[in-house]
Amino acid sequence: MNASTTHASPQARNPRPERQGKDLVLTGIRKSYGKTLALPEVDLSVARGEFCTLLGASGSGKTTLLKIIAGFEAPDTGAVRIAGRDVTRTPIADRNIGMVFQNYALFPHMTVFDNVAFALRMRKLNHEDVRRKVGEALELVSMNTLADRLPGALSGGQQQRAALARALVFTPDILLMDEPLGALDKNLRQAIQLQLKKLHHDLGLTVVFVTHDQDEAMNLSDRIVIMEQGRIVEAGAPEALYRRPGSAFVAGFLGECNFVDQGPRRLAVRPEHVRLGAALQPADLRHEGRVLAATFCGLHWKVFIESQDRTVVAYAPTGLAEAERRPGQALAWGFHADDAMEFAAA
Ligand SMILES: Nc1ncnc2c1ncn2[C@@H]1O[C@H](COP(=O)(O)OP(=O)(O)OP(=O)(O)O)[C@@H](O)[C@H]1O
Ligand SMILES: [Mg+2]
Repeated sequence: MNASTTHASPQARNPRPERQGKDLVLTGIRKSYGKTLALPEVDLSVARGEFCTLLGASGSGKTTLLKIIAGFEAPDTGAVRIAGRDVTRTPIADRNIGMVFQNYALFPHMTVFDNVAFALRMRKLNHEDVRRKVGEALELVSMNTLADRLPGALSGGQQQRAALARALVFTPDILLMDEPLGALDKNLRQAIQLQLKKLHHDLGLTVVFVTHDQDEAMNLSDRIVIMEQGRIVEAGAPEALYRRPGSAFVAGFLGECNFVDQGPRRLAVRPEHVRLGAALQPADLRHEGRVLAATFCGLHWKVFIESQDRTVVAYAPTGLAEAERRPGQALAWGFHADDAMEFAAA
């Protein structure tokens, strides 16, 4: 640990806490498991204090990449640098990386306090410093009243918060999280997402987060990195990736999308830009279809329309007439060309 992190303490009340995060640079990372080429070649830079999310289908190499950053796996070729230092061959314990994995369980026989204190005791901090730092870390995740509980006596969300405190307590240079909220229900997930966002902001953490939940990726990230078969296909801020994806693959992966092939062009239109029946405008591109189903989503109706042998998804205003969402009903749908994204046909 270098001098700049030794004195940084995770203190939410401190209006100007020292920025904790370090930058991370991966170059030419290649990794195979036997005949499986998990990562053909990955280059990725994560800036200091950036919240970077890896998003991709199952098997796309997200966990493998995190394991290489953490040091659980060594790459076949390539380098991992943290704040300019080459740590490719550095043991896990010497990388100063915090980790929260979905299955990276708390020690069941230790209280929350002892779980969080574990890494500090390994580092031979004195009793007083351990008490103070554990107290601060538990306070960060609003867990100080549960310090004496055993993990078995905690809810899933409380366990994840304890795991987060355990990862933050030693002031990590980088925080890695692999689907940490996957097992939680939606409300709890959202609550912890907010807490995580605040921690990230207050502490200036550098985070590499893995999820295959695109809403979660959009909620949390400064930048989303889309992975497919071990390759980074595109990276960008959530809004830019959503509005101006570079490929039909990314358009379809991040958010829902309808594709309309028109000769050499492939148009892609988001459900919020599809207009139905009476709402269609004269200048809209217009298609005929039939309502398959409609579900009420609170902010809008989600209407599924069968049209030319595929299913179109539209978000319609909650005032949508009953007749325009009745299954079996013939219904025109369309969109303005300006609202469509355009790609070369597949
Ligand atoms: N220990 C291993 N031995 C052999 N193959 C492995 C091993 N770990 C991962 N793989 C393979 O490497 C590829 C990438 O796996 P990885 O776990 O990184 O995917 P992932 O993106 O994390 O997927 P998920 O979303 O399902 O967690 C997959 O094809 C997987 O089968
Ligand atoms: Mg994984």
